Amino acid sequence: MNKKGIVAGNWKMYKTPGEGRKFIEEFNNLMLKIDDVEVIFCPPFPALFNIDVILRNSPYKLGAQNCHWESEGAYTGEISGPMLAETGVDYIIVGHSERRHIFGETDEWINQKVSAVLDGELKPILCIGETLEQRKRNETKKVLETQLQKGLNNIDNISNVMIAYEPVWAIGTGETANTVQVKEAHNWVREILADLYTRDVADQTAILYGGSVKPNNAAELFEIKDVNGFLIGGASLNIDSFKEIILEVKGILEG
Ligand code: PGA
Repeated sequence: MNKKGIVAGNWKMYKTPGEGRKFIEEFNNLMLKIDDVEVIFCPPFPALFNIDVILRNSPYKLGAQNCHWESEGAYTGEISGPMLAETGVDYIIVGHSERRHIFGETDEWINQKVSAVLDGELKPILCIGETLEQRKRNETKKVLETQLQKGLNNIDNISNVMIAYEPVWAIGTGETANTVQVKEAHNWVREILADLYTRDVADQTAILYGGSVKPNNAAELFEIKDVNGFLIGGASLNIDSFKEIILEVKGILEG
């Protein structure tokens, strides 16, 4: 299969709706030729309602950072997939490590969310990744396997699912996993998917890397065979760095 190139920016809890709109307007004005690269902006919820107009006239896609698994109900402070769908999102990030570790999300909740997102005809970006302690204890493979098995429990069709491998110790720390570690982890994720589904399905599934991706390391990471793109936090908040990463990916896709 041709290598996929996906660059998703996870803004986390940064940028007001006004700032987000301005950012995307300026980004759109660059008239970047992204060609085969799929570029996804994932702003905080309020900013989603403010930029669909721009996205309709651009090659960019929109994603949310989280959702509840029910479509409505008495869940104070939550937001559902169908509500997000109305803003024009195509993607929803599910199980980000900050959701798992700061807000206590379990694999079971994450599984329900993946399922709800797919039922709503949106595409989940399922995040998995080990902590530093788990890596030191040599548990990385086991952790990834468990998170994938549980996160994808009862999901028969993953053609609309993307996986993001994000080692917790590399997120927002400036410490990127080295190419050997990324290669090993992505290969392992693909093996688990082949085991849970088929080799063909595994090969078709996009596996993104996330954790301190910057313009100066994007190329060497994207060169890795099983890396189909990136989920980017810090570097997605700046127009220049986000643009440069997209161009690195595009350059490699074009050979
Ligand atoms: P980072 O965040 O690029 O700032 O490390 C990645 C993420 O949390 O998705």
